[in-house]
Amino acid sequence: MNSSDVIVIGAGVIGLSIAWRCSQRGMSVTIIDPTPGAGASATAAGMLAPVTELHFEGRDLLALNLESATRYPAFAAELAELTGLDAGFRRCGTVQAAWDAADLAALRQVHSFQQTLQVTSQMLTSRELRSLEPALAAGLPGGLWAEDDHQIDNRLLHAALMAAVAKAGVRIVAARVTEVITSGGAESGIVDSGSAGPEVAATVDAATAPVASRAHGDAVVSGVVTDGGESYRAAVTVLAAGAWSRGIAGLPDAVLPPVRPVKGQTLRLRGPQGLLTHVVRGNVKGNAVYIVPRSDGNLVIGASSEEAGFDVRPRAGAVYELLRDAATLVPELSEAEFVEVSTSLRPGSPDNAPMIGRAAIDGLIVATGHFRNGILLSPITGDEVARLIAGEPTPILAPFNPSRFARARRSTTGRSSGGSAVTAAELPQDPRKIEQSAEVGA
Ligand code: GLY
Repeated sequence: MNSSDVIVIGAGVIGLSIAWRCSQRGMSVTIIDPTPGAGASATAAGMLAPVTELHFEGRDLLALNLESATRYPAFAAELAELTGLDAGFRRCGTVQAAWDAADLAALRQVHSFQQTLQVTSQMLTSRELRSLEPALAAGLPGGLWAEDDHQIDNRLLHAALMAAVAKAGVRIVAARVTEVITSGGAESGIVDSGSAGPEVAATVDAATAPVASRAHGDAVVSGVVTDGGESYRAAVTVLAAGAWSRGIAGLPDAVLPPVRPVKGQTLRLRGPQGLLTHVVRGNVKGNAVYIVPRSDGNLVIGASSEEAGFDVRPRAGAVYELLRDAATLVPELSEAEFVEVSTSLRPGSPDNAPMIGRAAIDGLIVATGHFRNGILLSPITGDEVARLIAGEPTPILAPFNPSRFARARRSTTGRSSGGSAVTAAELPQDPRKIEQSAEVGA
């Protein structure tokens, strides 16, 4: 019998973190993904950048990002101790270089905003910028230093999480979830899956999720079906399929998270060794670019941001622009060996904040929409979703309730505190409808 306490759809870093933390609490977990780690978890650059990725989104998301960044050192150390695999967590800080006087003025505004939020950052003169990163082009007018924005090697992180869940006894199924099984009220509530694990609190708690409560009558999600025709049953199903989270049949449209694919391309270069010490970011003539130096001399350059539906083909223009802008900031990059272009889809949400929490149907938890912060938010998403399933309070997740957009649709003003509402018709449709893959990240 394919039965467990928890099913996680999607084995990117988000799904794996959830599976790992749930299994550590004694829950039996099945994680299902046709190609674990092949999605945005592989394309990401691994920046842990709550400060320099902040785009005037607001305090709730900043608080979530900062808290996850705070948890990162222990998360990485625990993974390393358990698996013997180093995920390349590096306290390197981030330099944001201004391209011209107008860009410097914009950075000053960002810095002032950061100060109102009590975020640690400081403005740099031109001289300070060059002394922090001597490889930067001469003549840049100044910049901003974010000493707490670090990095992890997202691919090593994914490998370490895979090893951790395997070690914890999580069942990993290489298949595509095509459908969610819903049934009437009979199976709702706490389900004894017959495993040795503890009971899980699968029911919607009307006190903490007023919008979610019984929005779909007595229906309850009780498992999934894969493309191989296999059924898997669990008390709780976690939808962590990143940009592909809407491509699964069986759920009412209002329950599907309003996630949309935002294409990102990154490039991987090798050497020159020791060229950069910190993550370097810039806005060259209005084009955002970042360069993430790994300790082994590799460099990750990113990233395009394209509204191109589910098209993951690399685009020559994006490769050209990234190389041009990166080499404008750091001229010696032109001498590096070109290794790879990688393309995937970030799961964007209508307000750029993730959707993490109970869905408006019993038995389903959503953990997607991490947009540009999937790698950063893995520790906190894993911890908090495991707490939620165990029935513990998760106040930090309250602003990220997946039902906030449904609430906005129903309200007379048409707006929620979280952001603007969208309709399903406005979202790109996955042509395969059944594809799911990894959650996305920075
Ligand atoms: N967080 C970096 C990106 O999404 O490109």
